[in-house]
Amino acid sequence: MNISVITLFPEIIEGYFGCSIMKRAVEKGLISYRAVDLKLFADGRFHRCDDYPYGGGAGLVMKPEPFEKALLSLRCDGKTAVVYPTPSGKPLTHEKALGLARYDGLVFLCGRYEGIDQRIIDLYVTEEISVGDYVLSSGEVASLVIIDAVYRHIDGVISGESLKEESFSDGPLLEYPQYTRPEVFHGLRVPEILLSGNHGEIEKWRYQKRVEKTLKNRPELIDKK
Ligand code: ADE
Repeated sequence: MNISVITLFPEIIEGYFGCSIMKRAVEKGLISYRAVDLKLFADGRFHRCDDYPYGGGAGLVMKPEPFEKALLSLRCDGKTAVVYPTPSGKPLTHEKALGLARYDGLVFLCGRYEGIDQRIIDLYVTEEISVGDYVLSSGEVASLVIIDAVYRHIDGVISGESLKEESFSDGPLLEYPQYTRPEVFHGLRVPEILLSGNHGEIEKWRYQKRVEKTLKNRPELIDKK
């Protein structure tokens, strides 16, 4: 998959792609990426990318021309989605992440301030996605949330076993608690059952914990079923 992110702050994106599991996926050739500097596509001495909103109101709106030029500079091979992260978008879910993972290319448009001129959305955007019912000041952070939720579903990035065991992959239950060494920490013991070696009982215990956790933190997931 090729991921392009059009942004005023390419350094935020570069940092993410250079670390941890994503770094490995890039090194293995499973993912290629471009952090496209929007300012390079803005005219004038000051490379201005924003302007006042027509009709008045607080804040600034990001101009359409730099986004269009940046988009047209990209060579997109294969099936490509153009994603605009916005609090007005459709919610990011496990299913949405799986759907996006099937594309050959994803292009993200990072907004700041009061958002992007609507005509760019009308002309080019195929997916408006919200990462939650709150407002972030940075479209870059929202883009990275979406990218992180998506790329782990690309074959070879993460072991099939780890993916299968996660919450949301196998139904609506949240995850069971995990423990590692030491056996006692601040007087708190690892539950005895996990040291028993009895895999059948461990499975049952973990299932019970998943139900308890879901009822406590996200009861609507069970009601929904
Ligand atoms: N940009 C700002 N807030 C956002 C949100 N909640 N989801 C997606 N993009 C955003």
